Amino acid sequence: MFEAYLVDWEDFGPEVVSEVRKYLERTPRSREIFENVSEYIPLGVNSNQRFYSPYPIYFREAKGSRIWDVDGNEYIDFNMGYGALITGHAHPKLVEAWREQVSKGILYTYPFELLEELSDLIPELFDIDMFRFSNSGSEAIMYACRLARAYTGRDVIIKIEGSYHGTYDYVLVSSWPTRGLAGPRRMPVSVLDSLGLPENTEDLVRVVPYNDVEPLIELLEEEGDEIAGLVVEPIMMNAGIIYPEKGYLERLRELTREYDIVLIFDEVKTGMRAFPGTAAQMFGVEPDLITLAKAIGGGATISLIGGDEDIMSLIAPSEAPRYQGVIHAGTYNANPFALTSVYVTLTEILTKDEYPRIIKLNEEIKKSYEEAFDKYGVDAYVELFGVSGAIMYSKEKIRNFRQVLNSRLELWYPLYFRMLNNGVIPNATGPEEMWTLSVQHSEEDVENYIENIDKAVKLMSISDQYLREE
Ligand SMILES: Cc1ncc(COP(=O)(O)O)c(C=O)c1O
Repeated sequence: MFEAYLVDWEDFGPEVVSEVRKYLERTPRSREIFENVSEYIPLGVNSNQRFYSPYPIYFREAKGSRIWDVDGNEYIDFNMGYGALITGHAHPKLVEAWREQVSKGILYTYPFELLEELSDLIPELFDIDMFRFSNSGSEAIMYACRLARAYTGRDVIIKIEGSYHGTYDYVLVSSWPTRGLAGPRRMPVSVLDSLGLPENTEDLVRVVPYNDVEPLIELLEEEGDEIAGLVVEPIMMNAGIIYPEKGYLERLRELTREYDIVLIFDEVKTGMRAFPGTAAQMFGVEPDLITLAKAIGGGATISLIGGDEDIMSLIAPSEAPRYQGVIHAGTYNANPFALTSVYVTLTEILTKDEYPRIIKLNEEIKKSYEEAFDKYGVDAYVELFGVSGAIMYSKEKIRNFRQVLNSRLELWYPLYFRMLNNGVIPNATGPEEMWTLSVQHSEEDVENYIENIDKAVKLMSISDQYLREE
């Protein structure tokens, strides 16, 4: 069965076919598990993003910068939980705190005492008045949208084309629309990302391009009084990495104020990425609400919705009985295991002194990629934000999602297989994904990555020739 998958790779040329063959040879146990579980678990994974052809690798253990698969192969991990693990795997300080907490119970479903310390820490760290914890980025976004609707009494959410905000129905629109469906560049069509979304989702979620306020202004002139919230990643980090142009975020702030729309910064990826804080703080633009997840938890399932008291306090309006505010609830919310993780991560591990060393190492990766792109004539560059980075498969600087769609994303595959076969997971799974360095990555780990870049980029360039001839 799996030999048939090799055909998929023939367009990339014989060198890539031989890399994929090598992948098959070194991961027989992963293949066996995939065959066994995919009969019961669709695609053999529990998050669609984890699947790739011919089958994903199954893992059993991770520590520091390393992760081991079920065939005993060791990898230096630069995926780091899609950026959730700036702490690295199983950080000793977390392991110690977890051990202690596990022995005292991990789920109380009563308020946990650590909330007091966290209430001292979090508002100041992230410049927010009030906050609540949930379990995932998707949940946090769902609550942020609900709060925005409750606050404004309106229904429609605006999002950015090409931005991913998790699996909540009313943001699962135009996260990665195909060219044929996406509509005009300046006025994108709302394309549903999934089957099973309510029919009215298209009307309740409007889409605008990133880095361009004119289409937004036109939309607001027509429908401004129906819009509850504008959700935006201050730096787009799910289509490679795309920075806001000068003044863009400030204009979003002005326009949302003008139309009384709740401005939501989704900081699930940007938060804690370059220093202990948010991109909102870095750019000096104050959203009404922020969502955080991933890096704040050191690997635990946790997210946070926070922001202005006026909006957050709708969860518990003083004049209403208990169940007439905005409902925010959950059996696993703010459980002792997750809160312990957040507290240790924020106070003992991701402190501001930890960042400069890793950011410097990250710059070396960029330099090395760009030297190799030059040497082999590959049209690509690298964008960094803090401890993360992404390859942009284009010669010209990318400023919005349409340009990402027109870039040569398929060149990621040769790079990925070549690196995996040499013991490096170069980034999270997918050409649109980033890599992340953790506080546990050493200089040697990064040297190892860099040593593999030349050959991987060479393979990209060979594949590029084959693909262009196709
Ligand atoms: C910007 C952004 N928002 C929200 C989410 C959803 O987070 P989760 O996967 O924890 O539900 C993601 C996930 O990658 C994300 O990148």
